Amino acid sequence: MSGSSIKVGVVGCGAVAQYGHLPAILAEPGLELAAVCEVDPDRLAQVAASTGARPYRSLDELAAADLDALVITSPAPLHEEHITWAAGQGLPVLCEKPLTLDEAGSVRAIEAMEEAGRPLYVGFTYRFAPAALDIHRLIREGAIGEPRALRLIYLWDLHGAYADREQHTGVNERREGRIAEGGPMIDCGVHQLDLARWWLGGEPVPTSVVGISVEGRTVPDHIVAHLDVDGCQVMVEISIGYGHTAPRTLPSYSYEVIGSEGVLRYRREEREFVAIGRDGIRELAWSPEKSFDGMYAAFARALAGDPADSLPTGRDGLIATQLATAITQRAAR
Ligand SMILES: NC(=O)c1ccc[n+]([C@@H]2O[C@H](COP(=O)([O-])OP(=O)(O)OC[C@H]3O[C@@H](n4cnc5c(N)ncnc54)[C@H](O)[C@@H]3O)[C@@H](O)[C@H]2O)c1
Repeated sequence: MSGSSIKVGVVGCGAVAQYGHLPAILAEPGLELAAVCEVDPDRLAQVAASTGARPYRSLDELAAADLDALVITSPAPLHEEHITWAAGQGLPVLCEKPLTLDEAGSVRAIEAMEEAGRPLYVGFTYRFAPAALDIHRLIREGAIGEPRALRLIYLWDLHGAYADREQHTGVNERREGRIAEGGPMIDCGVHQLDLARWWLGGEPVPTSVVGISVEGRTVPDHIVAHLDVDGCQVMVEISIGYGHTAPRTLPSYSYEVIGSEGVLRYRREEREFVAIGRDGIRELAWSPEKSFDGMYAAFARALAGDPADSLPTGRDGLIATQLATAITQRAAR
């Protein structure tokens, strides 16, 4: 595989494929979007028309597509089946999070890819934001000394409680689905847990967890977890209940890395990214918190034979989901 001959297929062409994966694959010169596979015929026709990729209605049909790699953006309950199919075809895989619905399924999927001798990557897009890459580099350069504490906060409402936010009518089924699948730490917090592992280069151990249901349900929609990573104290606060009744979304997204010699501070809504140290405040280049383009540039390089850089593997996906599940179980007690 080399250059523009790397042919990629995408299975499952719903929300995240359409706003994230498909545009990024089309924009990456090292990749060719050769095939899209989708069970909804109208959606398949629309995506094939807008991308120019060949349409396939099922994996059985996709087997004839002569691909070099498969991107899996189908619903989470299908990920194990789709990864196993790719392993059988001998295709490298980039799969959306969560890798699978449970630990046993993730282990089976990882082993199938290992037996096929093909790489399995998981779509932790937050690692590829320029600001996240800068934090990774600055920590390693000692820009803030020894990291002592890390705070990762993501408070939002998953598009609100209602189908119509202004009229307060109907139910936001997408948000209900994410609550049913395990709630905010499993849906979104896996990204924060992955960043903590990657930035600090160690394994987080939960030390205390608090779960709150701002709506008064039995499952928490707002979780605060404290974890220890080799002596660095990590706090992840994550919510899908923050302002859920408001007529418009009011999110709050930030990172703070507090070191022995300084602080790195990233605030999405304020578009602020600074290093605070002995010399005062140094402005850093702000960027959005995730990057599909950066992820596909890394994917293309890896498929072309370069080292896989910062691409998160199936095992990274498994560990983040194990942590998120353990935290969620403690939060629900
Ligand atoms: N990394 C991120 O920022 C991010 C954001 C949103 C969603 N996600 C993850 O991406 C995955 C997909 O989420 P979504 O919101 O796009 O879901 P979605 O329901 O909008 O899209 C899934 C698509 O898969 C199709 N599909 C279902 N079964 C199929 C099959 N057997 N073969 C082919 N296509 C099939 C559906 O028709 C649908 O179009 C989930 O795992 C979700 O957690 C990640």
